[in-house]
Amino acid sequence: MRHETLAPSQAPGALPRCSVRRLGPADLAAYKTLRDQALRLHPDAFTADAESESRRDPESYLGRLGLCDPLGGTALFGAFVSGPAGGEQLVGSVGLERETRGKLRHTATVIGLIVLPGHTGLGLGRQLVERVLDEARRAPALEMLTISVSAHSERVLRLYERAGFRRYGLLPRALRLAKPGGVQYVDKVQMLLML
Ligand SMILES: CC(C)(COP(=O)(O)OP(=O)(O)OC[C@H]1O[C@@H](n2cnc3c(N)ncnc32)[C@H](O)[C@@H]1OP(=O)(O)O)[C@@H](O)C(=O)NCCC(=O)NCCS
Repeated sequence: MRHETLAPSQAPGALPRCSVRRLGPADLAAYKTLRDQALRLHPDAFTADAESESRRDPESYLGRLGLCDPLGGTALFGAFVSGPAGGEQLVGSVGLERETRGKLRHTATVIGLIVLPGHTGLGLGRQLVERVLDEARRAPALEMLTISVSAHSERVLRLYERAGFRRYGLLPRALRLAKPGGVQYVDKVQMLLML
């Protein structure tokens, strides 16, 4: 399993060591905890809703690991920090999900990019996206990646544009969030990258 150590972006000693690697079955419990946290913290960024997803078992995410996928192009990646006392903590993740139907197998979707508060701004988001692109480029016959991003998340949109994605459309009112005293609609920008 590939394991990359990231260069700290601040003075040596000021930051814990960070690394990005592909997730395996042993990481699923930590992945579920991180994902549940992300859905609670950022309901307007993700399509899945926190309450129903929290009832899922960690094993229900096994398919996302892409272990039985002969084509490649399905995987989860995690960003870890380790403290001076050792041990690693999953603080970020992103997924790549390849379509399985014959006419769509040349496409995959980037899913669930998250870096926990307290660990943002260190380059982990950018490294996770780069790792996903690396995986996509190595998958035979995979031609195109898509993603949809909440339209108000200009920083996320720019992150993907810098990685090579371009905007091709807007789905108005893609998400409908129930709020105390009303509803909030979230438009989604559709993006693609030709590999
Ligand atoms: C989007 C997200 C994953 C970015 O993670 P991150 O680890 O902070 O990303 P990076 O540190 O690689 O920063 C990405 C860019 O944003 C900039 N940035 C980071 N923190 C910033 C801040 N607080 N304000 C403005 N810009 C910031 C960085 O400078 C970087 O730009 P660069 O590549 O030109 O240096 C993270 O903020 C997040 O989890 N957001 C909530 C969930 C979400 O919206 N997910 C996307 C779903 S599509």
